Amino acid sequence: MSEYYWDSKIDYLSKTRWLYYNDDYFEFLVKNVWKITSPVRVIDFGCGYGYMGTKLLPLLPEESTYTGGDVGNKLIDHAKDIYKEAPYKTQFVLGDIQKVDFEQEYDIAVCHAFLLHVENQKEILQKMIGCLVDRGRIICFEPHWISGMSSYYLDGHNSSDVVQLGFLQKLYERDAQRSGKDGNVGIKIPVYLSQLGVRQIECRVSDKVNFLDPNSEAWKTEALYSSLKEDGFGADPGEEEPFIANLVNRGATYEEAQNEYKLESFLSKMFKNDAFLTYSANMKITTGVIER
Ligand SMILES: C[S@@+](CC[C@H](N)C(=O)[O-])C[C@H]1O[C@@H](n2cnc3c(N)ncnc32)[C@H](O)[C@@H]1O
Repeated sequence: MSEYYWDSKIDYLSKTRWLYYNDDYFEFLVKNVWKITSPVRVIDFGCGYGYMGTKLLPLLPEESTYTGGDVGNKLIDHAKDIYKEAPYKTQFVLGDIQKVDFEQEYDIAVCHAFLLHVENQKEILQKMIGCLVDRGRIICFEPHWISGMSSYYLDGHNSSDVVQLGFLQKLYERDAQRSGKDGNVGIKIPVYLSQLGVRQIECRVSDKVNFLDPNSEAWKTEALYSSLKEDGFGADPGEEEPFIANLVNRGATYEEAQNEYKLESFLSKMFKNDAFLTYSANMKITTGVIER
């Protein structure tokens, strides 16, 4: 049996999360925006190896707890390993969130880069809401792909020679219509939450702008360059034929697919660790309160 996809992506997850937020931004959110001053019980939907816990637990009041749920058994094992020496109360639940029922006993239900991978976002949001106590808070950190794709600047190139937004916008929309999975879900969550009865909804954007600076220390440049590559920017598109076939399957015309292949091959050759590049992921962070 082949390995579960996300179990094989621990390295990718570990190398890319830091591209999205500065640590001080989490502190700002916890203290100034969500104003968490007493211990909370947090549940993280699609927790992976528990990334959100690693960011939130050090900032939350003592005695706060963190429960992570994920269907990847290697991810859950990795999470348990990460937290085994940590001074926090954690618990990990292995299972398909579509099928597991959680008790209504949490103060915060969070997810990070999870809803884009499910077809029934509103049902899952309802599930997150369902496990919150009165006055509990839902927090979704989710991508808005097209906004991330509009936020690359590679010195020496017109952005339109590197990323073609019009094509990608249509591609993402068609993907969402066909599969139900939506890489732009982040920007839609405020609407979904309001429709589900959540109140005091606010939406923010991730703060980090990465700067690949050949004039900075080599280890910093190398770390950022390798993470950006891991995240997909300037990645080798591989063989032309399967690349084109895949895009045509996703609704692109042959010419559009051919053009995208040329562009990505060009970019993979141009993007070296001595390039100047700025990039921000523009994740959307939506929160709201449950009033029962
Ligand atoms: C992009 S990863 C994000 C992981 C983690 N939240 C992070 O940001 O590092 C998406 C995660 O959702 C999990 N996932 C997807 N569908 C799931 C489901 N139905 N039940 C539980 N976990 C699921 C995957 O196993 C994977 O760990």
